[in-house]
Amino acid sequence: MLTERARFFAEEDWTGGVIGLGYVGLPLAVTMVDNGLKAIGYDRSQARVDLLNQGISPVEDVSDEELTTALANGLEITADESRLAASDAIFICVPSPLGRNREPDLSYIRSAADAVAGVVQQGMLVSLESTTYPGTTEDILVPAVSRNGLIVDEDVFVAFSPERVSPGAEMKTGDIPKVVGGVSPVSTAVAAEAYKRVVASVHPVSSARAAEMAKLLENTYRAVNIGLINEMAQLAHELDISIWEVVDAAATKPFGFQAFYPGPGVGGHCIPLDPQFLAWRAKEANFATRFIDLAEQVNTKMPLYTATRVGDLLNEAGLPIYGTKILGVGIAYKPDVADDRESASIEVLRELERRGAEIAVLDPVVGADRIAEHGFAPVRAGDPLEGYAIAVLLTDHAVLDLKRLATEVPVVLDTRGAYRRATLEFDNVTVL
Ligand SMILES: NC(=O)c1ccc[n+]([C@@H]2O[C@H](COP(=O)([O-])OP(=O)(O)OC[C@H]3O[C@@H](n4cnc5c(N)ncnc54)[C@H](O)[C@@H]3O)[C@@H](O)[C@H]2O)c1
Repeated sequence: MLTERARFFAEEDWTGGVIGLGYVGLPLAVTMVDNGLKAIGYDRSQARVDLLNQGISPVEDVSDEELTTALANGLEITADESRLAASDAIFICVPSPLGRNREPDLSYIRSAADAVAGVVQQGMLVSLESTTYPGTTEDILVPAVSRNGLIVDEDVFVAFSPERVSPGAEMKTGDIPKVVGGVSPVSTAVAAEAYKRVVASVHPVSSARAAEMAKLLENTYRAVNIGLINEMAQLAHELDISIWEVVDAAATKPFGFQAFYPGPGVGGHCIPLDPQFLAWRAKEANFATRFIDLAEQVNTKMPLYTATRVGDLLNEAGLPIYGTKILGVGIAYKPDVADDRESASIEVLRELERRGAEIAVLDPVVGADRIAEHGFAPVRAGDPLEGYAIAVLLTDHAVLDLKRLATEVPVVLDTRGAYRRATLEFDNVTVL
């Protein structure tokens, strides 16, 4: 039997407020409108709000056309946090980075919670979507919504629901099952009914803490398995065996094996960071997270290993790293996105630069301006490629012309197995 408030979210045409209109919040707001609801998107960056109101989407997963349609159909974009008062439910999608000492930086979540405290009212649902340590929803959101006397589960409902979107991937916000955990069974039920109106499937769990930890488990699982395969790749190289051939062979087993592939390190806003939320919380409980620590050790050393492999290939050609022109191909942290946050490619290129190489970078997706912001010489898609002693392929964007690269540059180190996947064979291409 649904409570009255759960029935409201299941049956009425409610309005959802979204705080933070980035990779997570913008697709969520647009998906709400696509499903016939109204949405108020609030971002504290006036520049971002102006851009969005012109129908220009800075996020790959929302096209300009989809944004414009949503704006016409009930999406309001604002930099005025008081507009959130017109929402029945508020979804917090602000950044949750790590601080200088790898501790969770909760300042964005705290300031979003303050914004909620200013507008929270009878019957509201508040759901946190930002990735964080287990306990954050109870520690930060519950006190914020209770500040002016509202009682959780009677007047206001609080939950955590992790966002699992993977920018650039085929599955979008509305298609990915949503884990939902309230701070109590009543809040879980209200939040689950609300999310059922927005996404195809909802998986309720017994607490916000379980939902918070589920997200961290997912990304720790990836970090640990990537660490394992990165270690295996180094061993396979020592043994003169192709790790790519080994993984493809192991992956023919119909059960019990999931293929992970090596690379120049881990990057992006999630895999390098999320396990650290768990490690930090574990430390408070005096618990050692050995898998997390080991995976981090292996993964953070991969840029150094990759730079060393570039040096070995140059050595075979009788060239030093010092003074040699090296072409870095791809600085995004993963293919087909313009996001270069925490990108391992940048670490590799910085290491080669430290060793005296002259670095130029080709990344048609990230673009020349951003490459120059990092202090690298940008190379545009049609520019000549002669003069580089080696190209190191760090991000395998689909638009890259692999044939041209291997034809025009004498040596290529492919850190992503791109040539193998494209079934292209060149004698001058080596895989990591
Ligand atoms: N990007 C991903 O692939 C991804 C996937 C799953 C989960 N997440 C998690 O989702 C959360 C958001 O990540 P993102 O990639 O969307 O971030 P983002 O940097 O793309 O966007 C965040 C937006 O929030 C705005 N903002 C910051 N503080 C604010 C405040 N107090 N009030 C209003 N607006 C504010 C910023 O201006 C920015 O536009 C993070 O916790 C992240 O770990 C991200």
